[in-house]
Amino acid sequence: MDNLLSNGKFHQTVPKQFILPPEMRVPGQVNCTMSLPVIDLRGGSHFHVEDREQIIREVLRAGKEFGFFQVINHGVSEQSMRDMIRVTEEFFNMSEENKAAYYSEDIYKMNRLFSSSDLAKKDGPRYWRDCLRLACYPVPETINDWPDKPAKLREVLAKFIVEARKVSMTLLSLISEGLGLKEGYFEGDLSSSQVIINANYYPPCPAPDLTLGLLPHCDFNLITLLLQGAVSGLEIMHQGKWVRVDPIQNAFVINFGHQLEIITNGVLKSIEHRAVTNSGAARTSVAMFITPDKESFISPAKEFVNEENPPLYKSFVFKDFLRTYVELSAKRVDVMEAFKING
Ligand code: OGA
Ligand code: NI
Repeated sequence: MDNLLSNGKFHQTVPKQFILPPEMRVPGQVNCTMSLPVIDLRGGSHFHVEDREQIIREVLRAGKEFGFFQVINHGVSEQSMRDMIRVTEEFFNMSEENKAAYYSEDIYKMNRLFSSSDLAKKDGPRYWRDCLRLACYPVPETINDWPDKPAKLREVLAKFIVEARKVSMTLLSLISEGLGLKEGYFEGDLSSSQVIINANYYPPCPAPDLTLGLLPHCDFNLITLLLQGAVSGLEIMHQGKWVRVDPIQNAFVINFGHQLEIITNGVLKSIEHRAVTNSGAARTSVAMFITPDKESFISPAKEFVNEENPPLYKSFVFKDFLRTYVELSAKRVDVMEAFKING
C-alpha cells in the first residue's frame, strides 16, 4: 500500500527505485508524434454492404501497417467514455483507507489495485503507474467483486464493458471476414469468457526522462481497446522508432495481442508499446483486454497455413501461454520466442 503512487507520495523527486537504467530511458525530444489511421465505424453496427467492405479494407490496411489504429463513431456513447475516465480518476483520488481494501501485491490475484510492475524482478526498477485490474465478464458474474467505491464505479463500468466489448467483437467479426476465416471464428472460447480491465493512473512525474509509466510490452491477449483521457503518453514502435500517439476525442485505440498474431500466423502482429510520463498532468487510461478462456486451444488457423506458409507458432492451451508469459516477462524475455516453431 505504501507503494501506491496515487497516494500523493514521490511527487517532488523521483526515488531511486524508479530511476531506469540509462538504456531503458526515454531521451527527451526525440520522439515524433504520429496520427494513427482513424477509422469511422459509422455507428458500429448494421453496416451497408459497401460500408462494411470499406471498413474491412481500412482495418486490415491499418492493422497490417501499424498493428494499431483508432476508431471513432463506434457506438459507445460519449457519456459512457467520459464517465469511465471520471470514475477511474475518482477511484485513484480516494483516500488511502478507501483504497486499502483493494490493494494486493499478489500477482496471481486477478482483481486488485497495485503499483508499478507486477512482472518485473523484485529488485528491478519500478515504473510510474498505479493500476486497478479487474475481471469484468460476464458482467453479472463479476460485478460483485468490483470495488464498491466510488459509488458509481460498478454502474459506469458495467455499462462501459458491455458497450466497449461490442466494438471489439464487431472489429473481430470484420477481421475474420476480411481474412477469410469462417463467420464467428473469434466468438465463443476465444473472446467470451474473459474480459480484463486495466484502469491505469500515471501521476505527474518530476523527471519524465528518468522513468517510464509502462515498460515496452506487447499485449498477451486477443485484441485490446484503449480509452485515453486527454493527456498524451502512449507510444508505439513503428519502423524501428518510438512514436507518440496523441489522444483524439471520443476515439478508442485498438491493437492486436499475441493471440491474434498466432492465430493469423503472423499476418496481423502484436506491436510493442509503452507509456511515458510527464511532469504537468496526471494521465488516466483504461485498457480493455478481450482474452481467451484459460482452457481454450490456440493455434495458427488452417486458413493461414499451407506449403509456402508453414506454421510459425506452436499450438497450446491458453493457460500454458499465460504461465510462460509471467515467467519470461519477469526476465524481460520475449514470450513469443518460446512459442515460435524452430525458435
Ligand atoms: C496496457 C497499456 C497503455 C496506456 O495497459 O497494456 O498498454 O496508454 N496501456 O495506458
Ligand atoms: Ni498494453
